[in-house]
Amino acid sequence: MELATERNSDQFESFLQKLLVCEGAEGVINCLSFLFGSFVLTCEGKVIACSHSFAEMTGYARTELYSMNARDLIAEDFRSDLHNRLSTDVTERYNSQLMTKSGTLRHVIISPRIFSANGTKFRLAEFIDQTDIVNYQQAQTAMFHDTASALTCAIEQRDPYTNGHMSRTTQLSIKIARLMQLDQHTTDLISLGASLHDIGKISVPIEILNKPSKLEPYEWEVVKQHPIKGYKIIAGVNCEKLVKDIVLLHHENQDGSGYPYGLQKDEIPLGVAIVTVADCLEAIAGVRPYRRAYSFEDAIAIMQQETFKFHPEVFSVMRHLVKSGDIKGTEFSAFND
Ligand SMILES: [Fe+2]
Ligand SMILES: [Fe+2]
Repeated sequence: MELATERNSDQFESFLQKLLVCEGAEGVINCLSFLFGSFVLTCEGKVIACSHSFAEMTGYARTELYSMNARDLIAEDFRSDLHNRLSTDVTERYNSQLMTKSGTLRHVIISPRIFSANGTKFRLAEFIDQTDIVNYQQAQTAMFHDTASALTCAIEQRDPYTNGHMSRTTQLSIKIARLMQLDQHTTDLISLGASLHDIGKISVPIEILNKPSKLEPYEWEVVKQHPIKGYKIIAGVNCEKLVKDIVLLHHENQDGSGYPYGLQKDEIPLGVAIVTVADCLEAIAGVRPYRRAYSFEDAIAIMQQETFKFHPEVFSVMRHLVKSGDIKGTEFSAFND
């Protein structure tokens, strides 16, 4: 099957080569009118032919495009990616953003193809405009985040001592994820999971949540149910597994001493381990009905005594953030209230 695909690919490239020799770059585009939007580039990225639909997508006239370089048509954030791709012969599909003549951005999937004619290398690229789909997905995600925040707010209103806990845990988790150079999508999932992680506390009676003294063992048992209760609340929501894992597993410890399942090390996803460390730091640093608040430095020192509970790399990143003062921004002023 793979051989057949490679053969088809070779045949297509030799077809492109013959077309270019016989009909010129315009001929290549005209013969490929079944592609939605496409252009032919020299190896250096200069546009030498493009389809009407590609010109329409960009807002430029075809004649204007023929004096342009592909780099001028790509959004600034994606230019170094384009530069890297133009310096290799990789032809896998990729996501990028086109910048139109009016300065608006279009989300596109680009399928590149490289072929040679008369000893010179050319590039053909097909563009699929995903802007409407991406905008719709972003609107859906924003709506989901808004609903999650409303729900979080409703839960935290019940308990003034943990008011803002989930949003501060979220901010800490994002800082850790960024320092660990996790990709944007994973960081977004961690952010969403962290913003919902204690959602199950809605099932914990208010007398237990606000109890001004240490909890009795049976009360602890009730509190320890909140990850499972939270998971049940969002089980039917159409979101990625990591978000649900964060809600269900954020009290699991690396040494197996956590709850509800006593998972260990590799059984706990990294995204969950990040929220666990952020949650713990935030909880220790925040004031509670039965004790004062601690500084971040003190909270780290307390966590250090049980460092075996935390993912080593995540804990070390968190400690670095505290020591460097990176998490002393105004967003955390509530710690000192
Ligand atoms: Fe929790
Ligand atoms: Fe929490």
